[in-house]
Amino acid sequence: MTVSCALRFLCHVQDLSDPGAKGFPPAPGGFFGLFAIRRGDNVRVYVNACPHIGVPLEWAPDRFLSSDGQHIVCGTHGALFDLLSGACQAGPCKGDHLTMVPVTIENGAVYVAADAGL
Ligand code: FES
Repeated sequence: MTVSCALRFLCHVQDLSDPGAKGFPPAPGGFFGLFAIRRGDNVRVYVNACPHIGVPLEWAPDRFLSSDGQHIVCGTHGALFDLLSGACQAGPCKGDHLTMVPVTIENGAVYVAADAGL
């Protein structure tokens, strides 16, 4: 069995506001982009697809958060998601989750698996 361990660099933690978010295009050959959020020392990366109908969440480039920075918000129908768990707390997909991508953070750099989001 072959296990892929290639990593894809996304950004540095310091590139993310606190709280803040940043979007990334799909990996080569991929369909879904990713986005990273930060709150304090916590960084999460999610597949950029709303569990409601699968569209990207941001309403403008890198605009994934509610105005108070306390939730991820879907720009299409306004669903609200917990920043750190990706759980939908309000909206048409309440009870569902964003797809979280495991991250590796080394020396302040954020990496995901090269095939994340494929
Ligand atoms: S597409 Fe996200 S709430 Fe409908």
